[in-house]
Amino acid sequence: MAAKNRVVVGLQWGDEGKGKIVDLLARQASIVARFQGGNNAGHTLVVDGKTLVLHLVPSGILHANITCAIGNGVVVDPEVLLKELDALADRGHTIHPKQLLVAEGAHVILPFHRQLDGAREASLGDQKIGTTGRGIGPTYEDKIARRGLRMSIFVDDERRRNHIAALLPEKNRQIENWYGQAPLTIDEIEAWAKPLAARLAPYVTDTPAVLHQATQAGQSILFEGAQGTFLDVDHGTYPYVTSSNTIAGAACAGTGVGPTQIHQVIGVTKAYTTRVGAGPFPSAMTEEEEAKLRKIGGEFGATTGRPRRCGWFDAALVRRAVLLNGATDLALTKLDILSGYPALQICTHYADGCAPTSAEALAKALPVYETVPGWTEDISGVRTWADLPINCQRYVQRIEALVGAPATLLSVGPGRDEVIHRSVL
Ligand code: IMP
Repeated sequence: MAAKNRVVVGLQWGDEGKGKIVDLLARQASIVARFQGGNNAGHTLVVDGKTLVLHLVPSGILHANITCAIGNGVVVDPEVLLKELDALADRGHTIHPKQLLVAEGAHVILPFHRQLDGAREASLGDQKIGTTGRGIGPTYEDKIARRGLRMSIFVDDERRRNHIAALLPEKNRQIENWYGQAPLTIDEIEAWAKPLAARLAPYVTDTPAVLHQATQAGQSILFEGAQGTFLDVDHGTYPYVTSSNTIAGAACAGTGVGPTQIHQVIGVTKAYTTRVGAGPFPSAMTEEEEAKLRKIGGEFGATTGRPRRCGWFDAALVRRAVLLNGATDLALTKLDILSGYPALQICTHYADGCAPTSAEALAKALPVYETVPGWTEDISGVRTWADLPINCQRYVQRIEALVGAPATLLSVGPGRDEVIHRSVL
C-alpha cells in the first residue's frame, strides 16, 4: 500500500476518543506526531485491560517500532512530559530518545504560566473559560508575542536562565500587583528547570527534518490532534475555546509538513455530544438524561476529572466540523453506550438557519430534533457491520447522511479491538 499521511482530529468539543483511534491506526504508520495543544489533552488508552492516560506523549507510544514526535505547535510542560515517561517506564515501556522526538521549536510551559492561568480564571468569576489550569493560554500568548521560551533554548542552561530572567519582572508584576500572589524568583524556577532540561535534552531535535526524511522515504505519518474542532481558537465557540488551532489544517503548521503531504483526514465524533468547561451547548439533555448518560458513558474529564456536560448527537455541529477539517472519514465512538435507549434524538439543524459560527450564535441556536428508534442489544461484542442491530445501522447511516462523511470506523467499547471496520482504513 502506498504511504498515506493521515490526520486524526476531534469533530466536537474534545474527548471524542481520539487516543484510541490513533492507537489503532498507528499500526499502519512509522511516525505519530502531535501538532498542537499541550497537557490540557488527556487521551485514555485501554490496553490489555489496563488504562493509561497520556497528556503529552503521542498515543502511538505503546508501539515499540513507531517514532513519536511532539511538534513545534505543541506547548510542553517538561515536568509533565518526564512524569509521563516515568509512568511508561514503570509499566515496562522505557522510552528511548530515538522513539520520542521533541521539536526544538515547541514552546515551554513555565511555572508562572500555570500560576497566571489559575489566577486569571479565579479573577474572572462566572465569566471564566473553565480552562484546565495547565498554563496553556499564557504560554501560547508568549509564543505569539514573540517572547516565548522554545525547547532549543530550554535545554541550554545559560540561554534558558537569561531568557527566563528577562521575562520574570513582567510576570511578577502581574502575579503580585494584579493577582496579589507571591512573586517567583529566578533561582526557584532554575532549581525546577535545570534537572528537567538535562533529562529532556537528548529528546530535543529538528523534528521537521525527521518528518521530511520519513515522507521522502515513503513512510506514513499519523498526525494526532488534541481537543476538538469547536475548541479551535479561530473556528470554535470563541472565547470558550483553547488557545491553539485544533483543526486538521493545523497539522501542517504544527509540524512543518506541507499540505500536499496530507492524504486523509479522519474526524472522530462520539455518537452523542459532550463538553467540559464553559460555553454554549445547544443539544444539551435534561438533567435527568444527562446524569444517566454520564454514568453509563463514564463522562468525566481525563485531565481534570470534571463531569462532562452531555447532549444528543448534534449533526449541525458535526456537519460544519466535517467541512472545517476536510474530513474524508468519520470514526464514530461510544456507539455501545447508546444501547438500551428506546428512542434517540438527533439534532438535525438549528431553527432559522442558524450556523455554529461563534459562541453568540450557538447561545441563540434552537436545536431541531428528529427522534429515531433505539436498540436494546449489547453491541460491545459485535465486530462486523452486518451483525449490528438494524436500528443501530440506521442510526449510523442517518448520521452519515446528515454530516456528509462515511463512518468507516465504529468504536463499540474502550478496548483496542472493540471496533468495527467498514472499509480498509
Ligand atoms: P485550556 O485549553 O486549558 O486553556 O482550556 C480552554 C477550554 O478548552 C476549556 O473549556 C477546557 O475545558 C477545554 N479543553 C482543553 N483541552 C481539552 C481536552 O483535551 N478535552 C476537552 N476539553 C478541553
